[in-house]
Amino acid sequence: MEGPVLLTGGAGFLGSHILDRLLKQQVETVVLDNFSSGQQANIAHHRGNRLLKIVEGDIRDREAVNKALQGCRTIIHLAANPEVRMGDPEEHLEHNIRGTLNILEAARRHDIPLIAFASSSTVYGEAKTLPTPEDYSPMKPISTYGASKLACEALLSAYAQTYNLPAVALRYANIVGRRARRGVVYDFTRKLLVNPTRLEILGDGTQKKSYIWVGDAVEATLVSIEASVGGFEAYNVGSIDAITVREVADTVCEALNLKGVEYVFMGGPGGRGWPGDVKFMHLDISKLMTLGWRPRHNSREAVAMAAREVKNELSKVGR
Ligand SMILES: NC(=O)c1ccc[n+]([C@@H]2O[C@H](COP(=O)([O-])OP(=O)(O)OC[C@H]3O[C@@H](n4cnc5c(N)ncnc54)[C@H](O)[C@@H]3O)[C@@H](O)[C@H]2O)c1
Repeated sequence: MEGPVLLTGGAGFLGSHILDRLLKQQVETVVLDNFSSGQQANIAHHRGNRLLKIVEGDIRDREAVNKALQGCRTIIHLAANPEVRMGDPEEHLEHNIRGTLNILEAARRHDIPLIAFASSSTVYGEAKTLPTPEDYSPMKPISTYGASKLACEALLSAYAQTYNLPAVALRYANIVGRRARRGVVYDFTRKLLVNPTRLEILGDGTQKKSYIWVGDAVEATLVSIEASVGGFEAYNVGSIDAITVREVADTVCEALNLKGVEYVFMGGPGGRGWPGDVKFMHLDISKLMTLGWRPRHNSREAVAMAAREVKNELSKVGR
């Protein structure tokens, strides 16, 4: 990969793992993050590393983006409002779409040879084909978050064509692992540490989705960057299988050595966890696999490993 790299959202969950990997490979990296959901603690172990520059700034601020991008050759753009649950649509528009447009404009001006973008499985909406391939259509997101990611992909595609700015979009499934501060595994583990006898589960428990270990997602991101030959390419990034929310609960309980936990299903629209929750998500990952990438863990393994990590982290801070 051509460095230095501008890593937006580098203090977040996925970003900090990508940062670990870039610095391990001796790639000079500039982290641009507004620390809204990102945490200093996620990157504190790199303080003092001369390959790392941390810029506290917002991707909605064009000047901040332009300044951070000075001298960089590749952009890994992860900064976003990642809240899938019903939130403020304006937030998704401003942070995700406006922010991405600012990144693209700056990239164009600085003649950046490649931008990698954190998209999401939610761009497909409720796909009728499972596992869902990248060329599935029609893409009909059911959340404003998914809509914002699809809009960003459309911008990337247009900039690739119009301004010859090569781009890859990674359509990640649910990423799990250390430093995650949201999502079903974090939520279940946190609740079970407080009450190990009873677990409230959003939806009806039959929602079935794919979970990917964060290390596998990092690897996929780097492989897709190395494989870029120009233009715009989208890749699904998931594990080989999908499991139900009930299976996630079983796996988390097992990982925490808990037996006989009472499950309380909270229901939701059509059995979903919340309006905008895609009930069945399983991505066809064969396109990325043809580049030589393979996920090392299936959904169940990823969930079990993540639950143990979350438990360790929460125990350390006494929660
Ligand atoms: N974690 C997942 O399961 C998952 C799945 C699909 C897609 N994604 C995407 O991957 C990316 C990273 O997600 P994550 O799970 O690490 O979330 P995260 O919240 O941990 O990371 C997002 C980072 O972006 C920063 N940020 C947010 N708005 C910003 C702004 N306006 N300017 C500068 N920095 C800003 C936050 O402070 C944070 O450090 C996001 O784009 C998300 O939508 C994540």
